[in-house]
Amino acid sequence: MAGETKSKILVIAASGGLGKLLVEESVKYGHPTFALFRQSALGDPLKAQIAAEFRAQGVTVLVGGVDDYDSLLNAVKQVDIVLSAVGAQQLGDQGGIIDAIKEAGNVKRFVPSDYGFLLDSKRVIEPIKTISGQKRGFRRKVQESGIPYTFVNSNFCGSLIFPTLAPPGSTDFPPRDRIAVYGDQNLKGVFNEERDIATYTILAVDDPRALNTVVYIQPEKNIISYGDLAALWEEKIGKKLERVHVTEEDIFETLPKLEIPLNILLSINYSVFVKGDQSFFQVPPEWVEASELYPHVKYTSVEAHLEKFV
Ligand SMILES: NC(=O)c1ccc[n+]([C@@H]2O[C@H](COP(=O)([O-])OP(=O)(O)OC[C@H]3O[C@@H](n4cnc5c(N)ncnc54)[C@H](OP(=O)(O)O)[C@@H]3O)[C@@H](O)[C@H]2O)c1
Repeated sequence: MAGETKSKILVIAASGGLGKLLVEESVKYGHPTFALFRQSALGDPLKAQIAAEFRAQGVTVLVGGVDDYDSLLNAVKQVDIVLSAVGAQQLGDQGGIIDAIKEAGNVKRFVPSDYGFLLDSKRVIEPIKTISGQKRGFRRKVQESGIPYTFVNSNFCGSLIFPTLAPPGSTDFPPRDRIAVYGDQNLKGVFNEERDIATYTILAVDDPRALNTVVYIQPEKNIISYGDLAALWEEKIGKKLERVHVTEEDIFETLPKLEIPLNILLSINYSVFVKGDQSFFQVPPEWVEASELYPHVKYTSVEAHLEKFV
């Protein structure tokens, strides 16, 4: 709309995988954008390059982190909307953001680092149990603080498709010889490209329909059963792959031997493809689905994602 003033958006952890995309989408949608980088990141040539590219696009690059309250307060005071994209290891350190937003008093919406799965807490195992628990706990803290919020459930990031299909512990991505088989293969997962997750998030932060609720990202073409996902990949590469059946016992035996992030992924696969979390999760009626809110977004389908790797 002519004369419309766009909300000013701050992205905390702008050097991270999702943080970088959030900054880019914020710029794309015309928001005055502020990106918080840690001093240490600016000393890293690759991350400093990201910051330089942001500056060239008009982004205000600020220095700070969630463990530096003054930097948070300074950053938060300059914007209308605060997004955090800190990694899974820093989820417990976001409390200072709430304090800074309360002290600053000017923020219209806060989106904490979340971007998680529709998982039922009764069916999760470690290590995703702790991560999901931290995210749920922080959601409660945000709600108790009275700060206006949007929480985002992104389901699987697209980049996890091949690690999901590969046998547990394998780093042979995309798999071209062997794939894992979980359960009866009929249970469904939802895979969304990281770029689309960032797009939907940026659209939601200014949207009254997404105020004080959860935006979950579940576009129709991205809901797929494990068996269909495996068959689609085989069809794309024109090859039948060896099936490695993964039982519950195999999962419990393998999990302690895996490092982050493969252990996190295997625990998610257990919830989703053995226990059926994304098939059976009862979405609360007040939550809103991103592709229904923003039907104009041409999201990347699972099929188009696979196509890129043929
Ligand atoms: N649904 C899914 O499939 C999925 C997949 C991946 C991630 N996620 C979620 O997405 C969110 C973001 O994860 P990601 O993978 O994008 O993270 P990431 O790439 O690992 O990046 C972590 C970010 O946190 C920053 N950080 C670390 N310590 C910090 C501090 N003290 N203060 C401020 N920033 C700090 C890092 O900055 P430096 O560069 O300075 O270290 C970096 O920017 C997390 O909630 C994660 O659980 C979901």
